Amino acid sequence: MRFSPAFLDEIRDRVPISTVIGGRVAWDRKKTNASRGDYWACCPFHGEKSPSFHCEDKKGRYHCFGCGVSGDHFRFLTDLEGLSFPEAVERIAGLAGVAMPARDEAEERRDRERASLTDVMEMAAVFFQDRLQSADGAKARAYLRDRGLTSVTQQTFRLGYAPESRNALKEHLASKGIPKDQIEACGLVRHGDDVPVSYDWFRDRIMFPIEDRQGRVIAFGGRALAPDAPAKYMNSPDTELFHKGNVLYNFARARKAQGKDGTVIAVEGYMDTIALAQAGFGNVVAPLGTALTENQLELLWRMAGEPVLCFDGDKAGLKAAWRAADLALPLVQPGRTLRFALLPEGQDPDDLVRAEGAAAFSKVLAEARPLADLLWMRETAGGVFDTPERRAELEKNLRELVGRIRDENLRRHYQQEMRERSNLFFGAARTARQGGNFRGGQNNQPRKGGAEGRMAVSDSLARSAMVKGGSVPMREAVLIVALICHPALIEENYDQVEMLEFSHAGLRQLHAALLDALAHDMAGDRATLLGVIGRAGLEPVWEQATAMVRRLRGWPALEDAALDDARDAFAQALHLHHSQRTLHKELKAAEVALAADSTEENFLRLIDIQAQFRDVQATEALIEGFGAQSGRGGRN
Ligand code: UTP
Ligand code: MN
Repeated sequence: MRFSPAFLDEIRDRVPISTVIGGRVAWDRKKTNASRGDYWACCPFHGEKSPSFHCEDKKGRYHCFGCGVSGDHFRFLTDLEGLSFPEAVERIAGLAGVAMPARDEAEERRDRERASLTDVMEMAAVFFQDRLQSADGAKARAYLRDRGLTSVTQQTFRLGYAPESRNALKEHLASKGIPKDQIEACGLVRHGDDVPVSYDWFRDRIMFPIEDRQGRVIAFGGRALAPDAPAKYMNSPDTELFHKGNVLYNFARARKAQGKDGTVIAVEGYMDTIALAQAGFGNVVAPLGTALTENQLELLWRMAGEPVLCFDGDKAGLKAAWRAADLALPLVQPGRTLRFALLPEGQDPDDLVRAEGAAAFSKVLAEARPLADLLWMRETAGGVFDTPERRAELEKNLRELVGRIRDENLRRHYQQEMRERSNLFFGAARTARQGGNFRGGQNNQPRKGGAEGRMAVSDSLARSAMVKGGSVPMREAVLIVALICHPALIEENYDQVEMLEFSHAGLRQLHAALLDALAHDMAGDRATLLGVIGRAGLEPVWEQATAMVRRLRGWPALEDAALDDARDAFAQALHLHHSQRTLHKELKAAEVALAADSTEENFLRLIDIQAQFRDVQATEALIEGFGAQSGRGGRN
């Protein structure tokens, strides 16, 4: 079971560490100062004649200056007495006279129930797969063949067939001893007060298992084979396991398939996802028959800063794109936005790759438009702006739209971008502004070109995003090294870890490898994680990062440090990382703004951000906390 940090702190505080250790060592009378809670002994972890093992009640930690071991109450018991962690906690709780926390039985029961539901879903998936290969699956096999899906693809996506029967699945599961209420809880049958006898939810359909982030089957989509079926596609109902707005089809596989550049593509349908995977685009996901939800957007952003949304080339597709743009607009930030790929008229991705091959789809992707383009297109498409009133109205609409962006800094850039587009669109020559002596003069000339011409602002933004750091930044190195050396921290900071952003390309790769390991359940211990890093060819980056941490006082992040120290170092670094990343983005933006528009206001803003930036760096330099706890701080 997991213990809360508050509980661990409480029992640790109540028991002097010298009490825990005192039973195993003889204190050195000369060096020890018991009244100050300062104890010395010969180290119980390695043989020695003169005492270099030290513990301090105030800090609740021990450290040996001879062999380097260090830790707290629990560590002492696990490492010297061989207790398990929960046993060590129980021992200390006993000494502290504090009762062990009660297990959360309701939560544990829910966990067990969920686990057994996924078992049932897995059995259903296997059943459908088997039916596809059986005699009554002949029609379905022919259908899939006609749609060009190879048997490898069918197996990869675990496609199946639900026979034309009201109880084939129900009886199969019952014969395996699955109780009725579980089959119902899985959403595999239609049941309820108005249904006298429950019956299979899916009948005569091609089955697409929908998996969760760990690849476990949590629902199904089914495509009707009969052309006159009431619904072409049908999903499982929402269940304890499945909330369709929170899931993306193919998420787990897509994450695995994400290449070096790490993009992800969202399409509209199951078949599109699968056909693209077969054509070599594995990094594709799809929502489940509804418009994209905010939760699904967040999932996409976990995979990539700039997912590409790919919509069918019809009216409905364009409408869906606009909806997605409206949904995303309040949430976009620097490094967290969308691109939009629109397919040729009347085609979906499946049609396109089947008719014209992978290259045609690559071309569509390469032409994906930024969010700003899409918004501009929507507001101006078909409009006639031949009077000042109409132009003012357009401007008002654009302002209102851009005003929905919550990120203040990005909002300013959008405002500027839309202003510039209006100016170009209406052919108005920009009047040169009085800008002082800063750079930016090149932008003061009136520009040529139509509305589709590239904007200087977009260009400089793109360039600034491409500039990469050279040497490994210390704080980022501490973060990644601490996580990999102490995988317990990954679990403790799960959400933060997923969202971490690194400016350094190598560390970004390490982070990606870590997430990958996490997705494959291989982030539980250091050795396995290092194995993953090795296989990804990231050893050199890893060496570089650890060397950096070692050199620069960051050693509590390293593997020989105590988990508590690593935890402190990590928390410290994370805090600074967040403040500095925010400032860094603002700084970049301010530089770009000044280059594009050299007003006094933009200049002062840059100066202000530079000053804040220096403050954070100074704070970082001042922090002595790193390493104090394990006693090494006082070594020199
Ligand atoms: P489409 O109608 O675009 O179908 O639905 P498709 O993906 O091209 O499928 P094929 O090629 O005809 O087999 C796109 C997605 O919308 C949802 C499904 O998730 C589907 O994949 N959908 C569609 C439904 O949920 N119900 C429907 O009746 C139709
Ligand atoms: Mn289709």
